[in-house]
Amino acid sequence: AGQATVEVLGHAYQRDDFTNVTSKILAKVGRNLHNQSHHPLWLIKERIKSHFYSLYTCRGNPLFSVHDNLSPVVTVEQNFDSLLIPPDHPSRKQGDNYYLNRETMLRAHTSAHQRELVRSGLDAFLVAGDVYRRDEIDTSHYPVFHQMEGVRLFSNHELFQKVQNSEDLSLFEAGGRRTPHKQETHSLEAVKLLEFDLKHTLTRLVTHLFGAAVDVRWVDCHFPFTHPSFEMEVRFQGDWMEVLGCGVMEQQLLNAAGAGNKVGWAFGLGLERLAMVLYNIPDIRLFWSQDERFLKQFQVQDIQQPVSFQPLSKYPPLHNDISFWLPTNSQKFIENDFYELVRSIGGDLVEKVSLVDKFQHPRTGRWSRCYRISYRHMERTLTQQEARLVHQQIEHAAEAALGVQGRY
Ligand code: PHE
Repeated sequence: AGQATVEVLGHAYQRDDFTNVTSKILAKVGRNLHNQSHHPLWLIKERIKSHFYSLYTCRGNPLFSVHDNLSPVVTVEQNFDSLLIPPDHPSRKQGDNYYLNRETMLRAHTSAHQRELVRSGLDAFLVAGDVYRRDEIDTSHYPVFHQMEGVRLFSNHELFQKVQNSEDLSLFEAGGRRTPHKQETHSLEAVKLLEFDLKHTLTRLVTHLFGAAVDVRWVDCHFPFTHPSFEMEVRFQGDWMEVLGCGVMEQQLLNAAGAGNKVGWAFGLGLERLAMVLYNIPDIRLFWSQDERFLKQFQVQDIQQPVSFQPLSKYPPLHNDISFWLPTNSQKFIENDFYELVRSIGGDLVEKVSLVDKFQHPRTGRWSRCYRISYRHMERTLTQQEARLVHQQIEHAAEAALGVQGRY
């Protein structure tokens, strides 16, 4: 309390009765996991980008432009009103969103950028970004996650060019009615082609990500900014899991964005959801981990290379110390040689080696070092006896190979 403003990304916002963003959340703004090279969310983003590049590039020009650096600070108008979300809609609740004040918030979805990007003249784009929703924290929910949005617009010619004798077809019809299948201004043939292209595009995308064996199903649903609307579910380990929402864009949105002569589809998918399924990541909190044991598993040379994720061990580590006198000429001792020796003997059981102490004997002048080796098994609890055995081999090898004198 006390502060009159909230500072986000170098900008100060006046607090008011709507302000509910916390410093814990603000600490995540700017982390941009989706832009961190070789982070699993980055890896999925790159795979989706490359899929769209390879499918839709015309004479070297990618059709879809990619936007992954738009600020997560948006106006409430962008996040809700621009998407035709009514003023009393439950999704606006303070309890579900992070408001900086009555006018500004952390975006709750990447759809918040649809109107500005359409207005700028783009016909096809992808948006990747961090999104914020107040939520419980458990293995599959976290108040910050990442989405990828896709939008594609079609002119009359673009939509109907593959249809024979399409001269008489039109995107729009006057005096139509809104039905469960279409908006009032759309022609049924336009909507059917759009819906087909949307579902086909997304099915190809998940097939690219998961392989041809993936099972997909479509569920009807509702969003204020698309109609008709669908959710895609993917079958994973026997369960159907929702991975994205999509639909035919509300014409009113396109009209307001200066693209009233076109129709379009849009989708928004959750990157964590996809990554958890694809890489078998058991807990959403791991995406925020700085643990090398987690991150190094995604250091692939080629983004299409499969990653087989080894969950971090939940079994306890064992710590054993090793102390020795360095050779009289202490320059002869190369620390990295010792690390390498430990790794070559201890293999994957060694999780960490750290220097815990060094001192010089007051009379002999010799240096002593003490290292702590942490042992941990990925699949079971190590016994002290097992660790001891490896540790003794390391003790002997150090004396034999590095000219040190054990104080064991
Ligand atoms: N913005 C929606 C969500 O976050 C997903 C969506 C995007 C739905 C685009 C339709 C079209 O749930």
